[in-house]
Parts: sequence; C-alpha cells; structure tokens
Amino acid sequence: MNQTMDLLHNRRTHRSFTDEPISSHDKRLIQEATLRAPTAGNMMYYSVLEITDQVKKDRLALLCDNQPMIATAPLVWLFLSDARKWVNYYQESGSVSKGEQKQIPWRAPGAGDLLLAMSDALIAAQSAVIAAESLGIGSCYIGDILENSEQIISLFNLPQYTAVATLVIFGHPKNPKPLEIPSIRCPIESIFMENTYQEPHLEELQKAFGKQEARLRQQNRLPFENSGTIADYYYFRKHTSDFMQEMDRSSRVIIERWLS
Ligand SMILES: Cc1cc2nc3c(=O)[nH]c(=O)nc-3n(C[C@H](O)[C@H](O)[C@H](O)COP(=O)(O)O)c2cc1C
Repeated sequence: MNQTMDLLHNRRTHRSFTDEPISSHDKRLIQEATLRAPTAGNMMYYSVLEITDQVKKDRLALLCDNQPMIATAPLVWLFLSDARKWVNYYQESGSVSKGEQKQIPWRAPGAGDLLLAMSDALIAAQSAVIAAESLGIGSCYIGDILENSEQIISLFNLPQYTAVATLVIFGHPKNPKPLEIPSIRCPIESIFMENTYQEPHLEELQKAFGKQEARLRQQNRLPFENSGTIADYYYFRKHTSDFMQEMDRSSRVIIERWLS
C-alpha cells in the first residue's frame, strides 16, 4: 500500500466536528486540489458556493431534512452544476451572434449539459473530500440538498442553468478515528462486471449485502423486531419514505427548470 491507498481505504464519513475553524491555509489547499479535478473539456462546468451566513446555514440544515450538523459545521460547500457561466460568455462575447451569421442557431443547454455539469461538480466534490481527508479534515456529503429545490434556489439566488449537485460539510472530526467502525461494502465481484450487465437477483443480492445485514442484525436495527432483511430496512426506512418522495418531486423541478 502507499499513502494514497491508505487514505482512500481509511476515509470515513464524519458528522460531528470540533469548533476549530478550517484555517485559511487548509481551505486554500482544498480549493486548489478541487480545481485539479478532471473536468469535461476543461470547461469547469461547475461552481462552489461556500455558505458562511449563519442564517442561511440554519435554513439549509432545516431544508436538508433537518440535519443540524449542517448549521454547526465549520465549512459548508454547495457544489453546483453550472452551465450559466458559458451561456453568459457565449452571449455576451458575441459567439451566439457570430453563429447566427453563419446559420448556426443558438442551442440552449440541454439534458447532456446537465449530466455533464453534474459529473463535473460531483468529481470536484470528491477531490475536495479526499484533499480534506489528507489534511485530517473530515467531511460528509448531504444528499438531502436535492429536496425543497424551490427554497434552495431562492435562498442562494440560483439562476437557470445552475443546478444543485451536492452539499459537503467539513470540519475537524470530534471522534478519534480508531473508535469509528468502518462501514461495510459489497464484495468486489458484486460491483465489477465484464462487458455486459449481469442483472443481480435474490441469491446474488443476499450475498452482496449479507455482511451489512449481519451488522444491522447485530446492532438490533432491522425492522420487524430485528427479524427483517436489509431489503426491508432500506425499503421502509428510505425507499418508501416521505423524504425520498420529496427528493423525487424536488429533483423533477431542478431538471424541468434546466430544460425549460
Ligand atoms: C450522495 C451521498 C449523499 C449522502 N447524504 C447524506 C446525508 O444527507 N446525511 C448524512 O448524514 N450522510 C450522507 N451521506 C454519507 C453516507 O451515509 C456515507 O457515505 C455512507 O453511510 C458510508 O459511510 P462511509 O462514507 O463512512 O464509508 C451521503 C453520501 C453520499 C455519497
């Protein structure tokens, strides 16, 4: 193993941070590493909003399915898919007019731009997470940022052709690492496939998620008084939950706004 492999293998999500702020030196290092992330066509189809306003952080914590650690985290970064910058550049620099003179009509950013910009933003976010980890700074993704998109759009003045990709909170971890139990992953062969998709069914899935299920059972966390399966756990706790219904509704708003 080398240092990078050690870092990747030992990274954990951290949700509880000390009050120690992230120094401007460390923040700068994370920013610089983030910028080195691969980006489609080297166009940097993303932006990052640092949320420092406590009123906005408090509101964000509520809008993200009420996760108070967002309000208290020392560093909060909102990763945005951002084609707006290029729309403005094309229009304001005259590229669009030059195109029209050559009978090339304007093409508004579409579904392809949205997915590409999402890729850019998420890849940049993961570079930030790893860079932070290398400095002893923990982090947590907040997927619930996809909820309540109307309020999020208005809270941060997001114009069309920007879309929320993810939220990451950072801080110095409160709990020393060795005390944390590493999360369990599926075995390699249940994730990596060759050439054609191999649709998994019950037996393979039980094998793939067996260790996670055993841990949940050991922790007495499975439904039906701990006699249920890991499928029951995610089905009732997540898949059919109110917050997933809201995430679906809100994500549709994000996509339709971009495409309208
Ligand atoms: C897209 C995404 C969304 C996530 N959303 C949340 C969240 O809203 N709240 C939270 O506490 N953790 C969130 N997490 C963290 C996961 O729960 C965590 O990565 C997972 O349990 C595995 O733990 P590990 O990162 O320590 O290996 C999210 C992670 C990802 C990648």
